[in-house]
Amino acid sequence: MWSYNGAVPGPEIRVRQGERLRIMVENQLAEETTVHWHGLRVPNAMDGVPHLTQKPIAPGESFVYEFDVPDAGTYWYHPHQRSFEQVGRGLYGPLIVEEEDPIQVDRDVTWVLDDWRLLGDAQISGDFGGFMDASHNGRVGNTVTVNGRILDTFTVRTGERVRLRLINAANARIFGLEFQDHRPTVVALDGQPVEPHELPDNRVVLGPAMRADLVIDMHGKPGERVTIADTFYRGLEYRLLDLAYEDGPPLRPHPLDAPLHLAANTMPEPDLQAAERHEVSFGGGMMGGMMNSGGMMGGGMMGGMMRGMQHAGIWSINGVAATGHVMEPFLTLQRGGSYVLAMHNDTAWHHPMHLHGHSFRVIARGGQPTRYREWQDTVLMAPRERVEIAFVADNPGDWMFHCHILEHQAAGMMGVIRVA
Ligand code: C2O
Ligand code: CU
Repeated sequence: MWSYNGAVPGPEIRVRQGERLRIMVENQLAEETTVHWHGLRVPNAMDGVPHLTQKPIAPGESFVYEFDVPDAGTYWYHPHQRSFEQVGRGLYGPLIVEEEDPIQVDRDVTWVLDDWRLLGDAQISGDFGGFMDASHNGRVGNTVTVNGRILDTFTVRTGERVRLRLINAANARIFGLEFQDHRPTVVALDGQPVEPHELPDNRVVLGPAMRADLVIDMHGKPGERVTIADTFYRGLEYRLLDLAYEDGPPLRPHPLDAPLHLAANTMPEPDLQAAERHEVSFGGGMMGGMMNSGGMMGGGMMGGMMRGMQHAGIWSINGVAATGHVMEPFLTLQRGGSYVLAMHNDTAWHHPMHLHGHSFRVIARGGQPTRYREWQDTVLMAPRERVEIAFVADNPGDWMFHCHILEHQAAGMMGVIRVA
């Protein structure tokens, strides 16, 4: 494994909202790296994108990241250099920004979810960046971990209220967690407060890089076990772990009766009347445009792609497949303006699309307004789905906009949005 401070996940960084964070990164890897603070609205120079916002940190060199933390919530950090391998080998960690006035819970727990492609001898398979993964649903592993371990049980106490911060740090796996009759209440998505609600189908779906803060009242009986299952991929359902109730007496006789509303963060509200609208389309992939337009790919093209590590050109944004380091923006926005991006996924695959430097409201899916108009920084698009997002371009700089299936990103599904 590759790790931050010798642990996977890396240390949980905890800071209070409004504080300033200063982190010295020393690169002891044999290759260049950077650190990106996923979801945090940092100044552009602190965003950790190699060549775009900083020079990559060479082996043996250091870089100091320093920025104010304006918003509370559940975030994470990871490299942005060859992330399909660096993140895939274990470089990631949680970053929790505590509210000034947090909701009342008995325990605040973080679960960083990941999966690994392990060989029979439990070595990590070294086939990072392979063509099959890049052109299909990414590197989905065969072994799922919670906080770097295969957990069998998670001990809980009758009557306790747990705030569970879920972070999907996997390269490509989408999680769809079901909690049986323990219907969690969602209080935040991607770190941003949302009107507390239960999920209609009782399933928490998290694409790569996405987070959810859940509040669960443990109403089971002492000694009981409740299975949390991941049912996202049909036919590949599995048990993630069991909540195991302690035998002791309940923590309290009745469920805690305390409000679940989190105070809003500091994002400006987009003005939808005045907002400028841009269409953004995603194309490519197997069984997408590439296969449909030309039938099977020529053997020469396939061979060429299989030799390259990056497979640039498999996926595209607005018809352009990024090659190498993207520098030229495909969209230039005016600072302070409101924008709607009308995105359509013209492929046969899911894509969690991530915008750096901003959080956006997800205002419509399939042409219908969303119920919660949730703030996110990464939005999961189903095959062929249309999703509209809205935000104020208030953070100047050049910002990455990419699919967080890291193999898709490396294979062309990224671009730059400039806030002038
Ligand atoms: Cu989580 Cu561009 O990153
Ligand atoms: Cu993708």
